[in-house]
Amino acid sequence: MGHIQPIWSDPAAYLARIRPEEAVLFLDPNALAHAYARFQRGFPGLVTYAVKANPERQIIERLTALGMAAYDVASPSEIDLVRAACPDARLHYHNPIRSRREIALAEAAGVASYSVDCLSELDKLAEGLADHRVDVAVRFALPLAGASYDFGSKFGATPARASELLARAAALGFIPAITFHPGTQCTDPKVWAQYIAAAVGIAEAAGVRPARLNVGGGFPSARDGREHDLGLIFQTIREATAAHFPDHAPELVCEPGRAMVSDALSLAVMVKAVRGGDLFLADGIYGTLGEQHQIGLTRRLTVIPGDGIPRGAEARDWRVFGPTCDSLDVLPEAVSLPADLAEGDHILFHSLGAYSTAMATRFNGYGAARLVPVQSLYPA
Ligand SMILES: Cc1ncc(COP(=O)(O)O)c(C=O)c1O
Repeated sequence: MGHIQPIWSDPAAYLARIRPEEAVLFLDPNALAHAYARFQRGFPGLVTYAVKANPERQIIERLTALGMAAYDVASPSEIDLVRAACPDARLHYHNPIRSRREIALAEAAGVASYSVDCLSELDKLAEGLADHRVDVAVRFALPLAGASYDFGSKFGATPARASELLARAAALGFIPAITFHPGTQCTDPKVWAQYIAAAVGIAEAAGVRPARLNVGGGFPSARDGREHDLGLIFQTIREATAAHFPDHAPELVCEPGRAMVSDALSLAVMVKAVRGGDLFLADGIYGTLGEQHQIGLTRRLTVIPGDGIPRGAEARDWRVFGPTCDSLDVLPEAVSLPADLAEGDHILFHSLGAYSTAMATRFNGYGAARLVPVQSLYPA
């Protein structure tokens, strides 16, 4: 696995020498180690990495080398990915819907925890798994704001239904657990406290003592231009659990995706053409910038001039298109960048380590990105 140290000092050095046309995702291994340490030291329980946020093999290998030994996976191919890099990893298959074939594959791979949010999927699990000595985490959802969009519209039982599911999971011989996801990029610690308060009600109504309480992902990155205090969120989770589960508190688990990887990687995309007030980039919403269309643009951008001459003009609003022939391939809002921006410049989108390459399609043949380690994303 042994990773070589980055040979490039920073993105600008690489871009000046290589002048890549395809998108480049720059990784700062120290920033990844920092994010890992923040969770390992601060979170009062088991930390699992949600592979979906960035499934690059290099990321899984580096996290494993740092000590990450538990992963949240959403499919058999993510299971294979993790097993290849970390054969003994504890696997949590927390995509609440699985085919019978996927259940069989997961059991063969030794998955330790499953989530469910409806009776039919719980019964499917009970039929499909020969061995019930695994966690079944009942996922519930509350109508709370605080995240970038509503995660409860697809998954999550009501608290009343979750109680029924929890009681049934325990009766079926599974290790009962509860889980929720506050929604991605959730900036309000109170949301976790409200979920934990509801979880105790679910457990009491079911008459079941959950072995584990998984408080999801959702932890925010700096994509909105602010450093968020994860320590405050961890403290809120710790205090809410102690207050609501005074006896026999469940073991806490979290499954961060975004906050583990986002700020450790920045994406460079070349300006292919300038047409009036429009920029045409070498990648767009069908590629690595897909999530920008869904949850808004990262607030952290810098320009690396192609000719090495700093862009000095005042900022103006640009309409920014991607490279495909589709007119929907445009960033969701006007982007404020120097007025003298030119063809061949690169735009660095920071905090782009999560849901960038993971969501890229190859529409029109674009969307590829290479991953390049650097010593620093932000040279002094
Ligand atoms: C079950 C589950 N866990 C964890 C995550 C990771 O969430 P985030 O990237 O907001 O931390 C997701 C994201 O979709 C998820 O569905």
